[in-house]
Amino acid sequence: MFFARAWKGRGMDVKNVKPANRIKHKILIPGDKSISHRAAILGMLSQGETRITNFLKAEDCLNTLAACQQLGAGVDWQKEELIIQGCGREGLKPPGSVIDCGNSGTGVRLLTGVLAGQPFESIITGDEQIRRRPMQRIIDPLTRMGARIESEPGGFCPLRIRGGNLKAIDYISPVASAQVKSCIILAGLFAQGKTSVSSPGSSRDHTERLMRFFDVAVASGMTPGSGPGQPQNEKVIVDGRPKLNGRKINIPSDISSAAFFMTAAALLPGTELKLKNIGVNPGRSGIIRVLEAMGAEIVMENQKQEAGEPVADLIIKGKGFLKSARIFGPMIPGLIDEIPVLAVAAAAAEGETVISDAAELRVKETDRISVLATELSSLGVAVEERPDGMLIQGGHIRGGEVDSHGDHRLAMSLAIAGLVSEQGVTIKHTQCVNTSFPGFWEILEQAAR
Ligand code: S3P
Repeated sequence: MFFARAWKGRGMDVKNVKPANRIKHKILIPGDKSISHRAAILGMLSQGETRITNFLKAEDCLNTLAACQQLGAGVDWQKEELIIQGCGREGLKPPGSVIDCGNSGTGVRLLTGVLAGQPFESIITGDEQIRRRPMQRIIDPLTRMGARIESEPGGFCPLRIRGGNLKAIDYISPVASAQVKSCIILAGLFAQGKTSVSSPGSSRDHTERLMRFFDVAVASGMTPGSGPGQPQNEKVIVDGRPKLNGRKINIPSDISSAAFFMTAAALLPGTELKLKNIGVNPGRSGIIRVLEAMGAEIVMENQKQEAGEPVADLIIKGKGFLKSARIFGPMIPGLIDEIPVLAVAAAAAEGETVISDAAELRVKETDRISVLATELSSLGVAVEERPDGMLIQGGHIRGGEVDSHGDHRLAMSLAIAGLVSEQGVTIKHTQCVNTSFPGFWEILEQAAR
């Protein structure tokens, strides 16, 4: 494969990905983004020291770490180990300046939960994409708990938060969102009594698992749905005002980053790809089940637990052929971030793939339904955009020129489209991969043959 580092006359932010025959057999995937955010925040709220290895040094998580520092946590790197000196749940200090989370929805929403519990005022915001993402979904419950939050009209960042003196609530969330759930249970740490959140269907449970690892009492389970055919509800209950104790954590590698290479391996014949120490939390690993249903062979080895999270080595054997899939309903939260790359898999697969019940994709870093439909169409794929998903007529990806619209997961998904395309893919706006996967382009360049 050949990579043009700069496309003449178009600046450095363009990559040209040529078709590949196979993917190198071993790739090191960086740490999990969701768990890195949570480890930094819970480390800050703990007594004593938290030592973290495989923390994701990507912009999103480094912004959260900087926010923790602003709020009083000590942050030190000893080679590859991150050491956080916690302030204890009651020891946070006013941030001194605006907290800037950059591109991170997880950073803004989780930190706002913490800030809602503080007896001082703070302002939190992020980049242009963040300032367009819905925050009313966290403002409503936090306001019910007693925080005073001002936003831009319509519930957008920046948020001015006057917190403290929270009361516990029982909240019914209209969306199955781990960010909303985590925001509320983080705020619940500062309230007297038990705070609960119920959501339609389950979402990733990293906050619950990591809170337990830091000695917080968290109960969780499923309750019946609101009627026949309705998804079960997830209910999480957290005990207020606990003492958190610093811990030693090795962060699993991120399945959402692994997803790009898993998909490429599944599509390229004769490839056998091994990815070590990947987080395979059932709330995140929907991509394994979908790729298997599409015909991929995926083997899990060395299954174990790290900081309460299941991890395993994944071996993906490429047969060079996938068939279409139905991606819908309760499976969506478990693969929401992988839908862009699964759409690429569907475009290369035989048959018609329908993705539905995924309207949440419209409020991610970009409107991922609309952008995917537009960009895959530019590559010669027949895509029908629907309000809650899309229909993809698979077969082949011709290739061409596309734009990531500054969305990291779209940039990387379109790169995989390039590897399995007929003519290659030129992608504009590629630096955004640093949000979640620094080194992605270099790894791709070395891995694709
Ligand atoms: C995340 C939750 C998901 C996901 C995001 C990370 C998290 O968002 O899309 O990339 O770390 O909690 P929602 O909770 O809004 O679905």
